[in-house]
Amino acid sequence: MTMDELKRQAAARALEHVRDGMKLGLGSGSTAKHFVELLGERVRGGLNIIGVPTSEATRADAQRWGIPLTSLDDIDRLDLTVDGADEIDPFFNVIKGGGGALLREKIVAAASDRMIVIADDSKFVETLGRFPLPVEVIPFGLSATRRAMAQVFAETGGSGQMVIRKAGNSHAFVTDGGHWIIDAHLGRIADAPRLAELLNSIPGVVEHGLFIGLAGMVVLAGSQGIRVVERP
Ligand code: A5P
Repeated sequence: MTMDELKRQAAARALEHVRDGMKLGLGSGSTAKHFVELLGERVRGGLNIIGVPTSEATRADAQRWGIPLTSLDDIDRLDLTVDGADEIDPFFNVIKGGGGALLREKIVAAASDRMIVIADDSKFVETLGRFPLPVEVIPFGLSATRRAMAQVFAETGGSGQMVIRKAGNSHAFVTDGGHWIIDAHLGRIADAPRLAELLNSIPGVVEHGLFIGLAGMVVLAGSQGIRVVERP
């Protein structure tokens, strides 16, 4: 089975948790894209839901599939968010933001009663950090922010290159929120919750890709089948 088929399988399994009348957070990335497409099929078949997209790309996809959309300004809470991940550890700590949508993804996940993370099983790791940690930053004062980040990495026992993400045209990649992303190549994140907390205290950091305590269920699709793990 191809990686893409595995992603679609994980998306299909998460769809089983969608009920009529739900308000849904719609994730971003190639796995979440399958979920949006499959959800669109159900909507065409009469399912009544409303979604909040986590990126402009997902908004365009959802509109293409005829999924009714709203915003967090018009509703209180979401019932469920389904989104992909770049890495997931056994404690349900997750790295997201490989696609650059981490800020909206985290706002939407935090406004949801429940988050289901869908992925192919290559994303499941013992310790986070092999995937570079995306950190969304304000361009103003970038050097000061980088120095503060380096200090935080040192404090948590890590170090590594910090690379400003580039767009195809070699200019800095600009997020939907108008910010930049630094990808921190840490190799190993020994204490993800602590690192998350310290990064939150840096003024130039808008948000980071560590999702701590947000994922309630993880659906992992692999060649041996689908593994669904729920946080106790
Ligand atoms: C988008 O910013 C990301 O958080 C994605 O959800 C994550 O990178 C997973 O993407 P794929 O499903 O494309 O691997």
